[in-house]
Amino acid sequence: MASIGNMHEDETGGRRTTKSVYEAILGGIRAGRWLPGGKLPSVREMGELMNVHRLTALKAYRQLADEGLVEAKYKSGYYVKTHEARAREPSLETEWDYKARSLYVNRSRLSDIHRQQVDYQMSEALIDPNLLPNAYLSNYVKQVFDLYPRVLSTYSTVLGDAELREKLGGFFLAKHGISVHPDELLITTGSQQAIDLVSRALAKPGDKALIERPTYSPAIDAFQQQGIALLPVTITPEGYDLDEVERLMKTERPRLFYMNPTYQNPTGYTVPAMQRKRLVELAERYQCLLVEDDVYHDIYFGGPPPPPLFYYDTEGYVLYIRSFSKYVAPGLRISVLAARPALMEAIAPVKALSDNGTPLLNQKIFQHYFFSKRLQEHVAKLRTALELRKTAMESSLSDTGWQWASPNGGLNLWVRLPDHLSVEELLRRALSRSLAFVPGSICDPLGGMNDWIRLSYSYLNETNIAEGIRRLVDIAEEIRSEH
Ligand SMILES: Cc1ncc(COP(=O)(O)O)c(C=O)c1O
Repeated sequence: MASIGNMHEDETGGRRTTKSVYEAILGGIRAGRWLPGGKLPSVREMGELMNVHRLTALKAYRQLADEGLVEAKYKSGYYVKTHEARAREPSLETEWDYKARSLYVNRSRLSDIHRQQVDYQMSEALIDPNLLPNAYLSNYVKQVFDLYPRVLSTYSTVLGDAELREKLGGFFLAKHGISVHPDELLITTGSQQAIDLVSRALAKPGDKALIERPTYSPAIDAFQQQGIALLPVTITPEGYDLDEVERLMKTERPRLFYMNPTYQNPTGYTVPAMQRKRLVELAERYQCLLVEDDVYHDIYFGGPPPPPLFYYDTEGYVLYIRSFSKYVAPGLRISVLAARPALMEAIAPVKALSDNGTPLLNQKIFQHYFFSKRLQEHVAKLRTALELRKTAMESSLSDTGWQWASPNGGLNLWVRLPDHLSVEELLRRALSRSLAFVPGSICDPLGGMNDWIRLSYSYLNETNIAEGIRRLVDIAEEIRSEH
């Protein structure tokens, strides 16, 4: 959906319906355009903003009020409800439903930010489509239809196409020296689905899980939706405090530890090989599963990263998620989850319930493209292009006094702002000027880290990165000068 300020028509070009006005207001609230406790535009103003009759705006406000998301104040207008006010209200829903729904309302801010169409998109860790060889990829689409004329009339198996799993087994052996049987591999629709499946199959409400602080925020949501209590493991410039990890494993007995140890999102941090070995030993000792989310493994600058934790695992405590979604073809959404048979037995039925198998066509196109020489050439070029963009962002930030640790791979900079600057205010103004980034609090399982932001350098070219950062710094300066 386009940003509210500049969109007056829905996607079909027609006038907006109540539903789309409702969604646009909700999107604005979640993205921080209107803050909890703040006043919303009057019914007339909202009507003008959306180019609808004021009655349509009124109906949308009423629906939001019925759902407890906004409140009408007598003779004053509509206000965004605070989280506290919402939590105080009696509800007919069960406590569990309420938790799940309020969680969605609080947390889905990330996708709301991503949904805003802005000129300077630094919020989404997404690779610029201009950096992917689209024309070449379409050749593989044609090839697949020639090779498998029935591909569109066939289901995949739940685990995924046997030929692809076989080939990926060979890939793990050749690339990492990891021996994994094709039946220990499950093709998923992005690593996002793999995380969701793990959260549903391997833990139950009330279980505890360790999670990095900060982390990839949809993982926080996925585990919390299942009623899993999250225990944060802080990432410092030296990495995890492994004694603390051991203490938590020993005293709290977490069921699993969700981690993104290679070019971590958002910090860019990579856990060194020695720590990887020790983590696997701890997992075995305390019977805590390690969910290793390895989406950025191939996006390195300089040398490649250490082997995955999965490589060190002999007892089956590591579940390894390797996504090819971002840098091969995001439109295909192909990722693989590797797990030893006892765990796979629990996960596969959940995948069956979820979608009965990732679309076969996507798997076949991926297979033919991924194992081609062209892909290897492309990845090498892509690394160089991304590193140039990272450098462009870092040099644009160099005079600001803002702080970050330069990552050796991945797509993001994790930046600390000066203490006095309100990130929420920065975001609100940035969005209204067509610029987006991720506020750090979204990445924090404890909802803090208010001085941090995540800036992705993968989507904009160098010129736009320089301009985007210049504008962001100007807004920060404007806020500073007002206080
Ligand atoms: C750490 C991490 N895990 C998982 C994902 C989801 O990726 P996919 O496109 O494979 O679903 C992302 C995407 O940004 C990510 O950063």
